[in-house]
Formats: sequence, C-alpha cells, structure tokens
Amino acid sequence: MVRILGLGAYAPEGVLRNDDFTRFMDTDDEWITSRSGIKSRRIAPANVLTSDLALEASRMALDRAGLSPRDLDMIIVATSSPDTLTPSTACVLSAKLGAGRIPCFDISAACPGFLYALEVARGLLRTGSYRYILIVGVESGTKFIDWHDRGTAVLFGDGAGAAVLTEDESRYGVLATYLKGDGRLGDLLKIEVGTAYPPGSWGVRMKGREVFRNAIVQMGEAAVEVLKRAGMTAEDIDWLVPHQANLRIIEATRERLNLPKEKVFVNIHRYGNTSAASIPLALNDMLEENLLREGQNVLAVSFGAGFTWASAVIRWG
Ligand code: COA
Repeated sequence: MVRILGLGAYAPEGVLRNDDFTRFMDTDDEWITSRSGIKSRRIAPANVLTSDLALEASRMALDRAGLSPRDLDMIIVATSSPDTLTPSTACVLSAKLGAGRIPCFDISAACPGFLYALEVARGLLRTGSYRYILIVGVESGTKFIDWHDRGTAVLFGDGAGAAVLTEDESRYGVLATYLKGDGRLGDLLKIEVGTAYPPGSWGVRMKGREVFRNAIVQMGEAAVEVLKRAGMTAEDIDWLVPHQANLRIIEATRERLNLPKEKVFVNIHRYGNTSAASIPLALNDMLEENLLREGQNVLAVSFGAGFTWASAVIRWG
C-alpha cells in the first residue's frame, strides 16, 4: 500500500490576531470568531518565500522518514502561491534541499492540492518507477491578500506541510481516494494573478456566501463517497481531518457523517485557512499532540477554488 513514511509541517512565526485587524479595518474578534472559528493566523514576511516554508516542512518529513534529500525520486508541490510561475516551487525546493536531478513539478488545485498530490504520487508509486516521493502542500497566500477586503483578509494564513510517500507491503496507508472538480464555478473564488489580469490588479476575490454553500455540499459528498470506496461507514472512522476553512463548514461535514465532535480535528483557530497546507498541517498537529495511533482510520476531506474537492481514507501507521 502507498503510505506516509514521514510527515512534517511548518508555520511562520509571525502571528496576526483578530484584534490586530481592528486597527485598520471595520471588523472585530466577535464577528471573525463566530463566522469562521478563526482567532489568529501566521503570516510569512515578504522575504520568506513559499519555497522557504516548504523547505522547513520537507526537512522535518525527511527526518521523520529517516531519509535524506538524495533518496527522493520526485518532488510534487501543491500550491496556489508559488514563488514564481516558472520555475515551479517544486524545482526551487529541490535545489534548496539538494535533492539532485529528480523530476519536480507543481500542482495547482487550491485547498485540496495536498490530496491531489497524494493521488498523483500514489499512481506514480504504483507504477514501480519511483520509490520515494515527497509531496508538499504549501502557501504564503497572504502575499496576494487585499488587506482592505474584510471579506477575505481575515480568513487566510500561511503554512506548509509535507509527506514522504512510498509503496510497500504494509497494511497501513492510503485505502481510498476521491477527487472531483467543476471549472464552471471558478469565478466564485479566485486569486487574480496571471495573464488574465494586468500587473498591479492582483488580489484574492471571493463570493463568500456561494463558496460556503458549495463547500458544505461538496465536502459532504467527498466524505460520503470515499467511505463507499473504502468499503467503510462513518463508524469505522477514528478521525475526520477536514480542510480548515470555516468552523461552520467543518461542523456541517461532521453532521453529514453523524460523527461525535471528539472525532473531528480542528486547528483553524490557530492558523486560519492555509489552503493546500491545511490538511498536512492538521495531521502534523495531531502527531505532535499524540492523537494519532497506529491502525486508526483517518478521513481527510477538502474543498477549494476551481472548484476542486477531494478526500482520502488513510489507515495510519
Ligand atoms: N468583519 C465584519 N463584517 C464583515 C467581515 C468582517 N471581516 N466580512 C464581511 N462582513 C460583513 C459583510 O460585509 C456583510 O455585511 P452586509 O450584510 O452589510 O453586506 C456581512 O458581514 C455578512 O457577510 P456574509 O458574507 O454573508 O457573511 P457569512 O456569514 O457568509 O460569512 C464568510 C462570511 C466569508 C466567513 C463565509 O461566507 C465563508 O466562510 N465562506 C466560505 C469561505 C471559504 O471557505 N473560502 C475558502 C474555500 S477553500
């Protein structure tokens, strides 16, 4: 089975609390907390790039896997906030790690990017052509934020999570995956950077209420469908690890599965929405809080711009 040999994460040190916004924006802690569940988020300074966050998380993942960068056969980075459009952040990361002449490329799949990368890596590992693949979900998306747009500025944060994957005879690993997308709904959530937008007009644009409605439906669908593929019911799940975008979306997903609150991991209050970093950052917090046990079934579910949505059932170990 394809499994996680080592996991790592990193969040930049700079903390922006809800109260900090009140100095330059018409908002307050009560609104942000009750509408989203977010209390603070981490912000990478201008000179700390997406690849720098990825580097910290990757080193931790490699360390825990007992491997060195030279052991890697491929690097896949999922991000919507690359250092540059080209070279890919995966290539920049490969050079910073000293991984040598291995294939490296980015995936643009927004918040479910880490789960998309997991699926791509899983397929490639199963061909037998690669032994160890590093996947990373990373964002310093706050660099694109319009700090005057209170509907988006308060929601996002920076961070990184990484996993070294391999395929072996183990009974632990990825049991099932589910990936979906619908490009027709792309206008509802965008990072407007690219050939469609003139220089100087950058920004994150979101129709929050529509995104919210879609997120609830698609997160629920992804959770239910991947359980079917794994031949499981919600009762078999030890942990729901949802994308941390909004506590009310997390709560709706929990209700759809009829899971008790104790089985749902939440760290949105600490980091806000870190997009592609959200799932691995959550898994890493769980590891460090000693919550994950060998043999537990973990259901990871995510939704984001595109729209894209995805899920995976992983037997931990
Ligand atoms: N502080 C105070 N008021 C704010 C605010 C802020 N930071 N942001 C928006 N508001 C105001 C709005 O202007 C609006 O005022 P109005 O009624 O006078 O026009 C009011 O609050 C309600 O806005 P609305 O967007 O309807 O609130 P909401 O309950 O839908 O919550 C979000 C807003 C953004 C928290 C919510 O829609 C959401 O989480 N959407 C999904 C976001 C998401 O997950 N995106 C990423 C997907 S990966």
